[in-house]
Amino acid sequence: MKLLVTGGAGFIGSAVVRLAVSRGHEVVNVDALTYAACLDNVAQAAQSPLYAFEQVDIRDRAGLDTVFAKHRPDAVMHLAAESHVDRSIDGPGDFIETNITGTFNMLEAARKYWVESGKPEGFRFHHISTDEVFGSLPADKTVQFTEDTAYDPRSPYSASKASSDHLVRAWHETYGLPVVLTNCSNNYGPYHFPEKLIPVIILNALAGKPLPIYGDGSNIRDWLYVEDHADALLLVVEEGEIGRSYNIGGENERTNLELVETLCAILDEKRPKSSGSYADQITFVTDRPGHDARYAIDPSRIRDELGWRPSVTVEEGLAQTVEWYLQNEAWWRPLQERHGVGQRLGVKA
Ligand SMILES: NC(=O)c1ccc[n+]([C@@H]2O[C@H](COP(=O)([O-])OP(=O)(O)OC[C@H]3O[C@@H](n4cnc5c(N)ncnc54)[C@H](O)[C@@H]3O)[C@@H](O)[C@H]2O)c1
Repeated sequence: MKLLVTGGAGFIGSAVVRLAVSRGHEVVNVDALTYAACLDNVAQAAQSPLYAFEQVDIRDRAGLDTVFAKHRPDAVMHLAAESHVDRSIDGPGDFIETNITGTFNMLEAARKYWVESGKPEGFRFHHISTDEVFGSLPADKTVQFTEDTAYDPRSPYSASKASSDHLVRAWHETYGLPVVLTNCSNNYGPYHFPEKLIPVIILNALAGKPLPIYGDGSNIRDWLYVEDHADALLLVVEEGEIGRSYNIGGENERTNLELVETLCAILDEKRPKSSGSYADQITFVTDRPGHDARYAIDPSRIRDELGWRPSVTVEEGLAQTVEWYLQNEAWWRPLQERHGVGQRLGVKA
């Protein structure tokens, strides 16, 4: 299958590119190379004749038309987005332009190509979204997000992603574009950009810096290893039912404090300090405005209908992730110099 993957130089998109090429798919990686991108993430896949790269901004409709006409993909996997909630608080404009207008451009470019190609039956537009569109759950663990949960986004990031999901469904209902959607919980793993919680904790710990925890650390997230997410995404683009959405999650709920304590325990074992524990560096800082209390995914649809299951437990995945950061300083060190990385963002409401 020839896949047009947007955002393939980012964290999750690059995991999709690596996995797709390793499984023999052709991949066209379309990425504008924003501050969050790193082509090193796909350096090995880029050696393959199956891989092509196009530096195109999804806000550029004409550029997208050229890419579709040149590469003639069998399916689209749309991951390109502004993805950092804290940045969306300080500068929501980029999130509106890329996540909403950019998705509109992708839908229109895909529709034009699909119609002009005679509406091939196998064509798919797979939109990759987040569980944050569903809002915030109570701490009561009996409730989880299902595909039928009403949308209730609460940050500029999640509102922009919710808008893009609505556009994708509308293009299916109105124009018949064959779409599938996925909404995933928090990802972690190799190549996670060093402004996100897990890499911040690992790298600050190693640097002897404070380990910042927003509020009291009681916010709960449902963690999924990025390579398991990539596996689920390839399954959905190949076997998902047209017009259907699938929630993807690891059934690994942890409070932020529990998560950070686990990372500290792994580091204590792998790279012990001369005295004390990395947990001594934990520091509670002012909370993010509108910080959602809990996200949790009910993944029974993708499990029962498509047979997907995560391959690693959160303990295994976190240990592999810590090991990867210990081994890959040459990857993360230069990224710490990029604009805004290492600074506290999104504090002003
Ligand atoms: N990270 C998570 O935990 C998570 C969870 C669920 C869903 N998602 C969704 O998955 C997708 C990928 O997330 P990620 O964490 O890999 O993001 P990321 O920020 O690591 O990567 C985003 C990529 O998109 C590219 N991009 C941004 N704006 C662009 C534009 N205008 N044109 C072309 N390319 C552009 C960037 O250069 C970057 O390579 C996003 O749609 C996000 O909403 C993320």
